[in-house]
Amino acid sequence: MVTVNTAELTTEDNQLEGNRLIYKNRKCHCKIVFKGTGSSVEIGENVTLPNNCILTIPNNCTVRISDNVSIVGGYMLFSDNCELFIDKNVRFRGLKRLRLFRYAEAFIGANTTIGGGIALDVHSYCKLAVGKDCLLSWDIEILCGDGHQIIDVREGKLINSPLDNPETVVIGDHVWIGGECCIMTGALIGTGSVVGYKSTVNKKFPNNVVLAGIPARIVREDAAWVSREWSDAEEYYHTKLPAEYKQLTDPGYAEKLASE
Ligand SMILES: CC(C)(COP(=O)(O)OP(=O)(O)OC[C@H]1O[C@@H](n2cnc3c(N)ncnc32)[C@H](O)[C@@H]1OP(=O)(O)O)[C@@H](O)C(=O)NCCC(=O)NCCS
Repeated sequence: MVTVNTAELTTEDNQLEGNRLIYKNRKCHCKIVFKGTGSSVEIGENVTLPNNCILTIPNNCTVRISDNVSIVGGYMLFSDNCELFIDKNVRFRGLKRLRLFRYAEAFIGANTTIGGGIALDVHSYCKLAVGKDCLLSWDIEILCGDGHQIIDVREGKLINSPLDNPETVVIGDHVWIGGECCIMTGALIGTGSVVGYKSTVNKKFPNNVVLAGIPARIVREDAAWVSREWSDAEEYYHTKLPAEYKQLTDPGYAEKLASE
């Protein structure tokens, strides 16, 4: 085991008892505890980490936190063979928890902003992908995988193993998720879509829809969203919102994505 106080590092690229640590951040420092070997941690420039942050890294993990990422509050759990990539300019405004279990993978796209109270659990062998330019509101839970096993008592067989059916949550680019939503295994939310307050999403949905309810259903198609002053919204929509975020809803979206 090796504990690194990043304030004491003299070089950006460090080999530490079979692990690699690239630490470019001059903005704030943390402790990184490598408990095993084969891991790689890369922290970019101008990253804000939680106060008194201690990152405990077991075996064969890959953790990349890109430039200008800000993570306030909460705790992060890493397990053997997990992968985390947070792209540039992502803001967590009050992380509750981020837990990656064995062989879990999580990706958060550039420029995504995440309100306080978010909990992300990516269970063993499961994958989470959040696109770029998303806005996730307050107190959201993202659950990828069930965490425990359910067995059919007639056959004695597992019915919810992620080894049989890969369990994923996919949130497309420029998706707005309202407060207190739950996004569960199997969810796919297409680019440009909106999820209403306190909804639970567990199925696949196309681009540019508004979803709402438990379980969520489509309540509006052919919708785009912007985050501006009310008086500027239409002008922003016409002049600045990228074309890919304001498409007509494609009912075959999920099937097309699955076949790619
Ligand atoms: C979803 C929302 C954005 C409204 O979208 P909209 O396209 O204007 O939808 P409407 O108000 O026309 O409602 C359409 C239908 O969805 C239902 N609905 C809307 N929001 C809902 C919600 N959160 N949960 C359940 N049903 C909802 C409406 O009752 C209506 O049902 P009906 O067709 O049976 O009458 C809004 O209701 C909402 O949830 N806003 C809060 C977003 C938020 O959390 N903001 C936090 C700041 S980031």
